[in-house]
Amino acid sequence: MASSPRTVLISGCSSGLGLELAVQLARDPRQRYQVVATMRDLGKKEALETAAGATLGKTLTVAQLDVCDDTSVAQCLGHIKGGDVDVLVNNAGMGLVGPLEGLSIATMQSVFDTNFFGAVRLVKAVLPGMKRRRQGHIVVVSSVMGLQGVMFNDVYAASKFALEGFFESLAIQLVQFNIFISLVEPGPVATDFEGKLLAQVSTAEFPGTDPDTLGYFRDLYLPASSQLFRSVGQSPRDVAQAIVKIIGAARPPLRKQTNARYVPLTALKALDPSGRLYVHTAHRLLFRWPRLLHFSLRCLACGCLPSQVQPQ
Ligand SMILES: NC(=O)c1ccc[n+]([C@@H]2O[C@H](COP(=O)([O-])OP(=O)(O)OC[C@H]3O[C@@H](n4cnc5c(N)ncnc54)[C@H](OP(=O)(O)O)[C@@H]3O)[C@@H](O)[C@H]2O)c1
Repeated sequence: MASSPRTVLISGCSSGLGLELAVQLARDPRQRYQVVATMRDLGKKEALETAAGATLGKTLTVAQLDVCDDTSVAQCLGHIKGGDVDVLVNNAGMGLVGPLEGLSIATMQSVFDTNFFGAVRLVKAVLPGMKRRRQGHIVVVSSVMGLQGVMFNDVYAASKFALEGFFESLAIQLVQFNIFISLVEPGPVATDFEGKLLAQVSTAEFPGTDPDTLGYFRDLYLPASSQLFRSVGQSPRDVAQAIVKIIGAARPPLRKQTNARYVPLTALKALDPSGRLYVHTAHRLLFRWPRLLHFSLRCLACGCLPSQVQPQ
């Protein structure tokens, strides 16, 4: 007899990865999932509803959820039949780039409120039910920036490092309850994410930042970042496919990098626990050998490497 579908709650489905993942799960040929695709502003639901097609109202429903708002989280869970979430996907997130001196503490806090406390808020809401039922899976869309710092992404990387530490700690306790945690670590993904950041920096003035730092940001970092997106960026479809496999796995991994082309960059940190190799290589590539960086990114983009690490 076929088992009943698992309820999957996903945050941040108005665009990008969340939208793509919701649709892929809803289209599962074996109909193993009932997807609750959430977004903070239902005024943006049209793109999701169009992509969902015939699955809308069957294996996919759309609901309001702002990860920064306790009432919104409680109301959303209150509408789920039985209130039980089998798989929670913490996907909602926002980026922040720029010189630290020019960013307000309030702006930095809003990144942590969304990326870190937003995920914690949802986990606190679903965990008692998962523990009671002795089963569950919490997927967290982290980033390669949860593994290593990237210049001018100080606060965003810190929010993803926070997720990594929090969920790795929780994972140990949850083994006892048969609840799995999976931290998914994409490299650059071609969603609205980068465009939103570029729009933000195009108008920002970063007051209080010295001219050298501003120059490094605008003339070194921004062009290198754009090239990185162009050369090793993955499609949201590929990343969502990797997450679908993780959700379907009998023993999901704690960590999964989705982009094999980015692995040479994360490997530098793993190779030297002192941290020097990564920091010095990143510094030299950006400040001393920008042509080598440009050439390396072109090599990575040439297509001889697989575009995706296949989850086991
Ligand atoms: N794109 C990349 O290069 C990349 C790389 C690694 C990891 N990631 C991570 O992937 C996740 C998805 O990002 P994406 O690339 O798909 O970008 P995206 O298209 O900008 O999607 C971000 C989603 O998060 C939602 N969101 C923001 N604040 C929220 C809140 N308070 N409550 C509920 N939803 C909220 C956004 O909703 P609104 O439309 O209302 O703003 C949007 O639906 C993020 O966690 C991001 O950090 C992205």
